[in-house]
Amino acid sequence: MDPVRNPYSPGAGTPPPALVGRDVELEACNVAIQRFGLGRPERSMLLTGLRGVGKTVLLREFGRLADGHRWAHHAIEITEELKFVEEMSALAHGVLRALSPGRRAADRARRALGVLKSFQLKWRLLDGGDLVIGLDPVPGPADSGLLDRDLAGLFLEIGAVARERGVGILVTIDEVQNLPREHLGALMVALHRVSQEQLPVMVAAAGLPTVPRLAGEAKTYAERLFRFRTINSLADADARAALATPADAEGVRWREGALDRVLAETRGYPYFIQEFGKHAWDVADRPDEITADDVDVAVPRATAELDAGFFRVRLDRTSRDEQTYLAIMASLGEAPYHVQVAHAIETWSGDDSWIGKAVADIRGRQPPARSTEQDVTERLRDSLIAKGLCYPPREGRIDFTVPLFGEFLHRQQGRTGGMESAPPPA
Ligand SMILES: Nc1ncnc2c1ncn2[C@@H]1O[C@H](COP(=O)(O)OP(=O)(O)OP(=O)(O)O)[C@@H](O)[C@H]1O
Ligand SMILES: [Mg+2]
Repeated sequence: MDPVRNPYSPGAGTPPPALVGRDVELEACNVAIQRFGLGRPERSMLLTGLRGVGKTVLLREFGRLADGHRWAHHAIEITEELKFVEEMSALAHGVLRALSPGRRAADRARRALGVLKSFQLKWRLLDGGDLVIGLDPVPGPADSGLLDRDLAGLFLEIGAVARERGVGILVTIDEVQNLPREHLGALMVALHRVSQEQLPVMVAAAGLPTVPRLAGEAKTYAERLFRFRTINSLADADARAALATPADAEGVRWREGALDRVLAETRGYPYFIQEFGKHAWDVADRPDEITADDVDVAVPRATAELDAGFFRVRLDRTSRDEQTYLAIMASLGEAPYHVQVAHAIETWSGDDSWIGKAVADIRGRQPPARSTEQDVTERLRDSLIAKGLCYPPREGRIDFTVPLFGEFLHRQQGRTGGMESAPPPA
């Protein structure tokens, strides 16, 4: 079918042609925005879910909802390079500009800008593009040099300006599992302070399933600040609609058997749905129909694309020992316990496969009994969690953060006998 008209959208945060199955979250955000606006007690939102389920897409929708209510809105993605204090300064500056456009800001906003200037001077943010110029610093609320206190001071100022303008502020924070504990803690203190004052400042954060635990460790009152919501794969009817609706709009019909086939392959995971939908469209040879035969042709293509991209990039960030741990997890089936993985590494009978050799190497690195050094398999588990590849769904258990990653590892070993990339086809 005409690739130019292909509506499907595999990507990171790329808006899907039909956003389905997320009405509950969208409605919850819409209600929260209005309650914040009225000064009613309300919590911020924390979305968690596996890779590719649609967290970023939802945060962007929340931003649109905020725009619709004429709120100021600032989006942050936590990367390793992010400079947190600079980002907080840019956030305050951005929302103050949005709330008080033009050169003659209202008194409340001028004061807030003065507080921000004081913050910038204290924290030595002297070369950023977001410097407050032409205003006297207002010392006191945000220049103690203690991050918790100063960030709370800033949030109170911007919240007060928003309230005076009769609007609110939405801050979206993506990949929040990457936020260092100190910074997560400071943000939570700031949110706590604005919620005590019932100011209209709301955070919508998203991250991997480890985040609620990280938030709880940073501050014990996490569950009173945030409404936690797990974002899952799509239910059967929603997954069908995600494929059929965009095609319908182009006058193309999915045959029922074709939909069944894609659902079986993707298990309703949104990223995979977009990837399989895209390939099925491209290979279909009738102008107005996608059939089960088309899907049969598309499956190996979509799978190869996922293996070379979505899955591969995760594996490339791991050491050989970590790959061994992952391979053993995959061999044990769904969400094994860490002790089972450790046991398998201890008892794997030395065969000639790459796993056999890799396991022998790991055993060779085990610290001697009664040493205080951390067990090698525990270290591997912890580093895989820290890298965001695994998470403990329950105490002691361990699972992949990437859906269907175990199947990918099996394919990979079948193809190359190990974990290397398959050589490009001759
Ligand atoms: N509700 C939905 N219906 C259909 N497709 C969706 C839906 N949500 C997201 N998608 C599609 O799924 C893909 C992944 O979305 P997104 O990048 O938001 O996931 P994510 O959870 O943020 O993933 P990651 O953890 O890797 O950042 C995109 O191609 C997007 O278009
Ligand atoms: Mg994302």
